[in-house]
Amino acid sequence: MKINSNTTDIRIKRISALETYPVRHPVLREGRPIDTCKMEADDLETTFHFGLIYNDNLVGVATFMIDKNLQFTEEKQYRLRGMAVLKAHQGHHFGKQLLQFGEYYLKSNNVERVWFNARINAVNFYKNNGYKTYGAIFDIPDIGSHYIMSKTL
Ligand SMILES: CC(C)(COP(=O)(O)OP(=O)(O)OC[C@H]1O[C@@H](n2cnc3c(N)ncnc32)[C@H](O)[C@@H]1OP(=O)(O)O)[C@@H](O)C(=O)NCCC(=O)NCCS
Repeated sequence: MKINSNTTDIRIKRISALETYPVRHPVLREGRPIDTCKMEADDLETTFHFGLIYNDNLVGVATFMIDKNLQFTEEKQYRLRGMAVLKAHQGHHFGKQLLQFGEYYLKSNNVERVWFNARINAVNFYKNNGYKTYGAIFDIPDIGSHYIMSKTL
């Protein structure tokens, strides 16, 4: 997908797991070894990594992988992981565009529900995008407080 205006060139495309690291690392694993960026299902064929490229620079990433959360009844569920926009580029709707692109892609593949563990600081971002929290706040060691969030597609 290409979004053009007079001064900006924004593209969103599928990328590899390794290509997400330059954004995952500083935003989600700052100060920790680079191999902490790796996620279990990263290299499965059914896992989708998307990158947002702004004026030829990768500034945002999001990963969607098959993972069924048993509190939801839908058969075809995907989990969002590694959602990140470089700090200098946050607040410019790049995250929103990535999320919407991923949702559109999943819906086109008959996925019925998206869910994820949302960092507490990002809960309002997801609420703005139509997601609801489920259950109580919980802690993920080394990362912090989270809520489960989800929506049907
Ligand atoms: C959360 C994150 C991916 C959002 O991406 P972004 O490009 O900064 O967000 P957007 O500009 O698309 O935000 C869209 C809307 O949500 C709001 N928003 C963005 N981040 C927010 C936040 N942390 N809290 C509250 N609102 C937020 C924006 O103000 C905007 O609102 P508007 O549509 O009314 O103008 C990004 O800020 C980020 O990488 N944060 C650090 C890592 C992180 O927490 N990742 C999520 C892990 S679960």
